[in-house]
Amino acid sequence: MVRSPMADPDPTPREPDQPGLADTDDVCLCFHVPLGKVKAFIRREDPPVASLISDCLGAGTGCGWCVPVLRMLHRQHESGEPMQVGVDPAAYAGGRRAYRQTGQRPDGIDKSAGSDLPPTS
Ligand code: FES
Repeated sequence: MVRSPMADPDPTPREPDQPGLADTDDVCLCFHVPLGKVKAFIRREDPPVASLISDCLGAGTGCGWCVPVLRMLHRQHESGEPMQVGVDPAAYAGGRRAYRQTGQRPDGIDKSAGSDLPPTS
C-alpha cells in the first residue's frame, strides 16, 4: 500500500554554511523526494524496516543510490538520533551520476554521509 506522505510541517531550509542535505534537498534523486518528506514519513509511520520507506513516494526504488542513506535515516530514527545526511548536495548528486555510470559508489560519500552508513561496493 502506498501511503500519501504529508509534508514536514517545519522543513528546515538551507542555511548558507549548513553542511549536508537540507530538508528541502532531494534525498531520492530518481523520484525527487526531499529529505524532509522522508523524515516526516519515518516519524509518522515509524516503519519497522527501512525498506518500507519506499512507501514514501517510491523513495529508493529507482537506481538504488539513496538506499544506504534511507537505511541510515531509519537507523538514526530507531536510535533516537537526529535524522541528518552530512553530504554536500552537489557531492551527493555527483556521486549518484558516477554510481549510475559505473555501478560503484565514489570513495568518501559514505564517510561524509554519516559514520553509520553501511559500507558500499
Ligand atoms: S536516488 Fe533514490 S532510487 Fe535513485
